[in-house]
Amino acid sequence: MQRAYFDNNATTPLLPDVLEAMHPYFLDQFGNASSIHHHGQQTRAAVEKARESVADLLGARASEIVFTSGGTEADNLAIFGLVKPGDHVITSTIEHSAVLNTCRHLETQGCEVTYLPVDCEGLIDLDELRRAIRSNTKLISIMWANNETGVLQPVSEIGRIAAEADVYFHTDAIQAAGKVRIDVHEAGCDLLSISGHKIHAPQGVGALYVRKGTLLQPMLYGGRHERMRRAGTENVPGIVALGKAAEMAKLGFEDGSVVRIGEMRDRIERTVLQQIDQAGVNGRLAARTPNTTNIYFDCIEGEALVIALDLKGIAVSTGAACSSGTIEPSHVLVAMGLSGERARASMRFSLGKQNTNEDVDLLLNTVPATVARLREISPVYKREAVKVG
Ligand SMILES: Cc1ncc(COP(=O)(O)O)c(C=O)c1O
Repeated sequence: MQRAYFDNNATTPLLPDVLEAMHPYFLDQFGNASSIHHHGQQTRAAVEKARESVADLLGARASEIVFTSGGTEADNLAIFGLVKPGDHVITSTIEHSAVLNTCRHLETQGCEVTYLPVDCEGLIDLDELRRAIRSNTKLISIMWANNETGVLQPVSEIGRIAAEADVYFHTDAIQAAGKVRIDVHEAGCDLLSISGHKIHAPQGVGALYVRKGTLLQPMLYGGRHERMRRAGTENVPGIVALGKAAEMAKLGFEDGSVVRIGEMRDRIERTVLQQIDQAGVNGRLAARTPNTTNIYFDCIEGEALVIALDLKGIAVSTGAACSSGTIEPSHVLVAMGLSGERARASMRFSLGKQNTNEDVDLLLNTVPATVARLREISPVYKREAVKVG
């Protein structure tokens, strides 16, 4: 069966060049990067080269990059590393759970958190951000790109507001890296998280940019790794892979692959909206990452469409999270003002470097008929149809 994967915001496949780069570090180049002998020196050099590559993708210095076990740890380190009981934090209602649940935990530890709402395009209001800043505000943590809609927040403006108020600014750029150009100085952020498996490196490796001079309390205690900011023997193959993936992500802005992905995404949106009624793009008017579209198909259950498309070889996802057997509508889409029904009828299509026009053909040949079939058996759609007719 022909299969096409359109769930790259969940995870991306390894690129062959990334696999090739990391491969030797599972075999003959196995040393502990802290060892002083030849084997250790070999892996230390590889880790430092990867640090340069990640820094280069972000416009940072190598010494400002801390390798972590992934995006979740990078987000946790940024927040727990700075915030103490009595501090106030500002975040948004549409963050990933790696930030939201970290902030919720802070609330149990004597911290105050403001969760800024978003408008119908998924954007925070900068005046509301300004008004939320208090004398004890320590940190603003606002994501760069949303994982469900791709909507981009105005990070440079947020950075300016944070700097004027002398408040730290962390941005979760896990879904922005490799999709939009990142320059930590232009963004004005003090901390920025990325994750390997969203940019075609493996799962279980990530990095946190920590602006020079930012005093971060470590979360893990142990050896003196990562300039005492993150203890633990480095995941050398993962870090090497992240470095290579960062190089390739940067190249993507020059070799046309980011543009190509955007063209495929636009073709999906155009065709789906032409061919399917009662459908629309969530966050359509906002600036978005070029690889993501989140489309609602009224009168269907998103989960049913995911399963029906999977049976035809197409992998997509809803924004919905399953918790204890009940399908909750996406907190992101609900925060944007969608009804629970419309949020549950929404589907995320997210592309990666491996996607081809043939993949898009398969998608476009399949989605309209599948939506039509699901609507045929939908009592809600029939009711709507009768009402209209
Ligand atoms: C915006 C965002 N933040 C954080 C994470 C967590 O990253 P990781 O899976 O590397 O822990 C993800 C992963 O889905 C994400 O999309």
